[in-house]
Amino acid sequence: MSSVRFEPSGPLRGRFRPPPDKSISHRAALFGAMSDEPVAVRNYLDSADTRSTLHALLILGAAIEEESIPGTLVIRGVGLHTALEATGGRLDVGNSGTLLRLLPGWLAGQAGGEWTLDGDESIRRRPVDRVVEPLVMMGARVQARGDRLPPLKVYGSDLHGIDYDLPVASAQVKSCVLIAGLLAAGSTSITERTHSRDHTERILRRSRVPFERDGLRVTVSATDELELDEITVPGDPSSAAFMVAAACLVPGSRVVIDNVGLNWTRTGFMRIAQRMGAVIVGDLEEVDTFADDEPVGELDVAHAPLEATTVAGDEVPTSIDELTLVALLGAFAEGETVVSGAEELRHKESDRITAVVEELSAIGADIEDTGDGFTVRGDGAPPAGGRIDARGDHRLAMLGAVAGLACGNGVEVVGMEAAAVSYPEFQQDLAALLR
Ligand code: S3P
Repeated sequence: MSSVRFEPSGPLRGRFRPPPDKSISHRAALFGAMSDEPVAVRNYLDSADTRSTLHALLILGAAIEEESIPGTLVIRGVGLHTALEATGGRLDVGNSGTLLRLLPGWLAGQAGGEWTLDGDESIRRRPVDRVVEPLVMMGARVQARGDRLPPLKVYGSDLHGIDYDLPVASAQVKSCVLIAGLLAAGSTSITERTHSRDHTERILRRSRVPFERDGLRVTVSATDELELDEITVPGDPSSAAFMVAAACLVPGSRVVIDNVGLNWTRTGFMRIAQRMGAVIVGDLEEVDTFADDEPVGELDVAHAPLEATTVAGDEVPTSIDELTLVALLGAFAEGETVVSGAEELRHKESDRITAVVEELSAIGADIEDTGDGFTVRGDGAPPAGGRIDARGDHRLAMLGAVAGLACGNGVEVVGMEAAAVSYPEFQQDLAALLR
């Protein structure tokens, strides 16, 4: 395990291009593999998680050609219904919750197949009952360890459509059911309680499959094939959020972020930070927009003093992967920052409520676990600093680094290598902004 010290720094200055979006990369590869015709993917993320997806799809029979331009792939898929090359075996999802939850949607509809999805120590703690329930309702045979956890066994079956109310705000579960719906007789509808990221819906629309969206309800119908020839992956707003947070916290900073995805279902953190007083200028997609394409643009971020805020309800899914950064900003802001309705954070790469409360307390922040979130109290002054254990969670590792730049005595991050799950070049990109 590598320990890296991040010392209090001078301002972050300059332009940077965030790595390709992890969520959209997983979907691009999977939809490419489900297509009959070749799909060109541009700006595919090269990280541990997205490599797990490519490996699984290769085992299932897709051919993946890497072009000379980095991140450009041509995926020659096997088609939605074509018997997969492997009719069974073990698929290693590594650390990827998205692969673990999306792929079963496709496999469940491949009658005769038998697969076991498994991964690392952290993946074995991530609930899969949330995909088992709807898939079983659709006629699939799916079994989880203790009915709840991986390994997950998927026996392909003939599926039928369902009308499903999503009990958890989860884009992964929604996507799994929508993908299974492409293979299921009739139509499949899903109703969310509040909007979660909608990348799957946008790709479905571009794939010209029978698809409807009516507010929080989306419907797909049985489909023969996808018509998709190209997917360009925007920069990842969740990865960019670490640089946004660093620029907000380190006095004198001004950072311009190029080619970042601005889909409103992903930019809750930018709106929260703006409300806290952060100067973030850019064409964020308007809330509630539903388009075929993924909006991409530039964000211009500058340091400013921060004030506390409250995050709850609808805002939670659109900022879910950045809520730990809201805690960090809260530790530097004046007043009491409250995040609630976020129990889903307990089911991420780590229990992110316990982790952020313990790790930010360890560097001197006044933060408390409230069960479904946390409360952070600040007086506008930076916490002292110290040591943060990433707990194998990529987002905690990067949060620790950002905290180090802005805390009085810096921060030592234990397990910094975890960042490679989503952002292998994080340390180099950060160093370039500090030069
Ligand atoms: C993701 C959805 C979210 C998010 C995860 C990626 C996706 O998870 O936290 O990092 O790609 O669909 P949930 O669906 O579990 O909320």
